[in-house]
Parts: sequence; structure tokens; C-alpha cells
Amino acid sequence: MSLSPYNTLFIGKVAIHLESIDSTNRYANEMISKSSPIEGTVIYADEQVAGRGQIGSKWSSSPCQNITMSIVLRPNFLEARKQFLLNQAIALGIWDMLAQHIDAPSQVSIKWPNDIYINAKKIGGVLIENRLKGSFIDYSIIGIGLNINQTLFDPKIPNPTSLALTNSKNYDLKLLIEQLCSTIEQRYLQLRSKQYTKLKEDYLSQLYLYQQAAAYYIPKNDTKVKGIISGISDQGHLLVKIDQEEQAFSLKEIKFLHQKL
Ligand code: BTN
Repeated sequence: MSLSPYNTLFIGKVAIHLESIDSTNRYANEMISKSSPIEGTVIYADEQVAGRGQIGSKWSSSPCQNITMSIVLRPNFLEARKQFLLNQAIALGIWDMLAQHIDAPSQVSIKWPNDIYINAKKIGGVLIENRLKGSFIDYSIIGIGLNINQTLFDPKIPNPTSLALTNSKNYDLKLLIEQLCSTIEQRYLQLRSKQYTKLKEDYLSQLYLYQQAAAYYIPKNDTKVKGIISGISDQGHLLVKIDQEEQAFSLKEIKFLHQKL
């Protein structure tokens, strides 16, 4: 099963389809160590038995029902300290694809840093693993997990959803992967041509709970606070106004409680 991505220059032109693998990101890492895969190489799997999630978590996905894929990119024009720009471009590329399949695209949002939500539920996530050369990125492995046709989830998964649960129909996974190749490439080309302001504006306009009062948990103080997301720093920290004071948080420093106040 090869891909025929419509309208792309390089993403998905080389595609590796695996029936079963531990993790497509791990597979892509190994490819980079052993050879020099061409930029845009896509690895996608029917089944992932040891899928990796953010901050050391696991990503579980029922076989043959969802998208589990990795894209090899070479954003060697991007300084490592600006890597959040790549996160923004990828999250927007996924948003662009999903929005085409949702009657009310405003229901699709990006939960910082790059989870994809439909209403208040998670439909997918992104794990980006970068290899650096000096102060620049050499290779970037973009791991994408999107729930598509799965309708039953392990109760331990906090707040999952899927396209099938949203629209009560099943989808052709290969077609969606091809569309993703195209929408991600368009956003990546914006990044390459340094359209940083546009990417940040678009990211903020789709950001979950942006400028809305909501509840957050701050592990450091073991407290629940009322906060309003006010922006993203250049380093990719979440900026939240708490008691009129803007504070910057990294991923482990704040937890969304998904409660509007
Ligand atoms: C998250 O924790 O939200 C990120 C999940 C990323 C999962 C994808 S599935 C394809 C790729 N291979 C992996 O092992 N992980 C990513």
C-alpha cells in the first residue's frame, strides 16, 4: 500500500507501510541512524504495540482503526531554540486536515502544546523528536497519532474521542494520511519561508481555551487556580494570567482541568 498524496512536493513521496511495529517513531529513529532517509519519508503502521506519547507516556491505539505515522523532516534552517515554531506548523497542518471533516471547524482546537481536540476531548497527539547539529535541527521525526475509526477506548484514557465518534461514520485511513501529508506540507512550507507571524496568529486562533477563564492544577504548589491563557512565549511556554499576573509554564508545570469558570 503506497501513498499517492495529492499535491505534495515531498511529504509522502516515499512511504513505508508496516503491518505491525513497536513504534513508528522508533523505526524512523533507527532509519536515521543507519541511512539518510529522504526528507518527507512517511512511515505508517496498521498496529503499534509500544507507541510512545509525550513526556514518557504510552500511546495506545487499536489496530487498523487509527492513524499512527511518523514523518521524517529536515528543518535544518531552524535553530533548535526556535523549535516550537515547528510544533505550531505541525499542529496547524493536522488542524487543517481535520477541519475539512467537521461540520463546525471551530469545534476542532489545538490544546497546547500540540494535542488536537474536538470540543473538550482529545482526538490526537504529536510527538516530535529532534536531532540537532550544533545549534540547528538536523532531523525531526514527527510522530502523529489520530483516533479515526475507534469508538471504544480504555477507561484509563482521560478524555478520548475520534472522527467516527464525532460524525458517526467510518473513514478511509489511507486517504486521510494522504490529506495530512498535503496539509502538513503546506504549513511546513510556511515555516520554511519564515512566515512566523502568520503561523503564530493561526495557532493562537485555534488554541483551546485561549483567552477564556478556566481551571488549572499547578503541581508545584499542589493548588487549583483560575487562569486565562494569554499567549505562548517564543520558547513555547504557555502564558497564563493568574490573579492579574502573567506566568510562563512548561509542560510538566501545569495541568488542564477542562473546566471553564
Ligand atoms: C501524545 O502523547 O499525545 C503524543 C502521541 C504521539 C503518538 C504517535 S503514534 C505514531 C508515532 N509513533 C509513536 O510511538 N508515537 C507517535
